[in-house]
Amino acid sequence: MALIKKEVVDQIILQADIVEVVGDFVSLKKKGQNMWACCPFHHEKSPSFSVAPNKGIYKCFGCGKAGNSVQFIMDVEGTSYVEALKYLAKKYSIDIEEDQSPAAVQAQNERDSLYILSDFAKKYYVNALHKNDEGQSIGAPYFKQRGLSAATIQKFELGYSLDSWDDFTKAALEKGFLLKYLEETGLTIVKQEEGKQYDRFRGRVMFPIQNVSGRTIGFGARTLKTNDKKSPKYVNSPESPIYHKSDVLYGMYQAKQSIRQEDNCYLVEGYLDVLSLHQGSIENVVASSGTSLTENQIKLIGRYTKNITVLYDGDPAGIKASLRGIDLILEGGLNVNVVLFPDGDDPDSYIRKVGDTAFKDYLEKNSRDFISFKAELFAQEAKDNPVKKAEAIREMVVSIAKIPDAIKRSVFLQQCSLQFGIDEQVLISEYNKIHLTEQKNSRSQPSQGSSYGNSPASYAPGSFEEMAAEAEAAAAAEAAMYEDEGAPEADQSNVLRVREREVIRFILNYADKEVEEGLTASQFMLGELEDIEFKTPIYKKLFDLCRLKLEQGFMPTASEFMQHEEKEIRTEVVDLLSEKYELSKGWATHEIIVPHESDLVSYGSEREVLRLKWRNVQLMIKEQMDTLPRLKEAQELDKTLRTIKALKEFEKQIADLLGIVVSR
Ligand code: CTP
Ligand code: MN
Repeated sequence: MALIKKEVVDQIILQADIVEVVGDFVSLKKKGQNMWACCPFHHEKSPSFSVAPNKGIYKCFGCGKAGNSVQFIMDVEGTSYVEALKYLAKKYSIDIEEDQSPAAVQAQNERDSLYILSDFAKKYYVNALHKNDEGQSIGAPYFKQRGLSAATIQKFELGYSLDSWDDFTKAALEKGFLLKYLEETGLTIVKQEEGKQYDRFRGRVMFPIQNVSGRTIGFGARTLKTNDKKSPKYVNSPESPIYHKSDVLYGMYQAKQSIRQEDNCYLVEGYLDVLSLHQGSIENVVASSGTSLTENQIKLIGRYTKNITVLYDGDPAGIKASLRGIDLILEGGLNVNVVLFPDGDDPDSYIRKVGDTAFKDYLEKNSRDFISFKAELFAQEAKDNPVKKAEAIREMVVSIAKIPDAIKRSVFLQQCSLQFGIDEQVLISEYNKIHLTEQKNSRSQPSQGSSYGNSPASYAPGSFEEMAAEAEAAAAAEAAMYEDEGAPEADQSNVLRVREREVIRFILNYADKEVEEGLTASQFMLGELEDIEFKTPIYKKLFDLCRLKLEQGFMPTASEFMQHEEKEIRTEVVDLLSEKYELSKGWATHEIIVPHESDLVSYGSEREVLRLKWRNVQLMIKEQMDTLPRLKEAQELDKTLRTIKALKEFEKQIADLLGIVVSR
């Protein structure tokens, strides 16, 4: 990826007017010096999202998101820094002169040609629908019969392709488009041997497919002959340099803003489902276009929300087939709900049958989490059949194992145990098996090279790992309980205090236990945390004392400090020693067994180190964020934003190692 020149970056930041940039996404109202709106990043009824035109920044007092124009685009579109700059450059017609090598220029020109051609085709089909006799007498009535309004047809730029061999191809060639591009986009099919070329889409209603930024990249085309078995119901554009099917969801361009606001994305199968729901003012809906969901499509949704609701037609075969795709969503850390429609109805037919209001009502009443949905599906089938039951249990646990969040996992395991009427422990041991195989698999792949020194997978092998897996889940659950984005200042510092305390407790209790050959827990932890400044005075004191002991050649075990002259230290040490390993409430209630921590010293010390680092990075991010509103210079702001981004990356790396999903 070529770098954008510094001067150009400065120019973009200078020109990108925060009010204009933000104004493309929310409607701002002036109040005093600033402009206000309901925050596009979280759901709210009264505006706490503000834009300060003179400072060129935005800030939400509800969720804390803040930054300049570039940051806003990154947040709102879920893009990288460079992509955001490109977006703004385009908006303000600033030439970014990226990579000027002939090959790059040619590739870009080529893609541009394909975009321009696709746009031409879209307009051509729209025109044929509205201005051509055939379009009016055949295409338009079809849409009408399907209940689509003029507004919907316009919004999605639906069109019609004439029932002729090469009407479109001729028109495009006449316009000066090269045959090569016509072929590459698949709009024209070229038969070299026969020296013939003809339109791919003939006598069909046309659904242009757009990428997230609204550019036409391909088409879906439906036949009007409902009973003709010979011609396929849908003909679609093939893959091309601008159309990668696995990266695209139909309707995303029109849906993205609503998805963000509703914090939920409805996933349907067909073009018509998207259109009908939109028309019924449910706009947060996209279609996978009949294929199974890909990882990239899930990531695309994940830019805007962490919640997906899958709308199924109630056909059991179809449901079964799509279950795997849903496991993929779980793996992506997203929450999945499911709504099932009565047999024979798809979302499109159902909304037209019952009307908008009843439909929305139905969605609300029938939306349920995927795991329990799946469990029920299998439980019914497995009734009285032990072989099927075992299979079903495995199926369930496979899905549950995909969920990165430990608390959610445990809740689902419990739910599942109720549903199948089997002991939760059976599920847990099944879960452990699956979890371990997956860990092994992922470990045999080349490591990702994190900036965190010690390999996270260095704990002992064998059955110990099983315990470790459990303890990891417990630790993640506990950490997740400390998730405290919105927590008041006091709680934030309390979180840090707890972490520091745990580190010290760990050191004092297991100072001389080896985490690997020749390295004790205290040596390891003190080494790892060398750069960390402890914030709680008593733990800072203890940490420094531990280091001193180590330097003097002693193990900083608790007994070393029991006789310390300072009362404060003595009391604290006794406190730390007498404390049993306390499970987080959330975890304990789910009755998941955690092995004794002394078995897990190497594992535990590593985690404690990571968790403290994680909290420290978060604090640093917050400190940087807090300076944002005071920064006046664009350059300063830019630098700070870059620092924040780097810190966030680091935060995510640690969270990954800890198995925590950071949602923001
Ligand atoms: N599809 C396809 N090719 C086919 C059949 C289906 O590409 N031969 C894709 C289309 O994207 C279609 C989706 O799968 O929208 C769902 O298929 P289906 O339910 O059969 O179509 P609907 O969109 O429901 O269309 P209609 O309501 O007109 O039957
Ligand atoms: Mn349909």
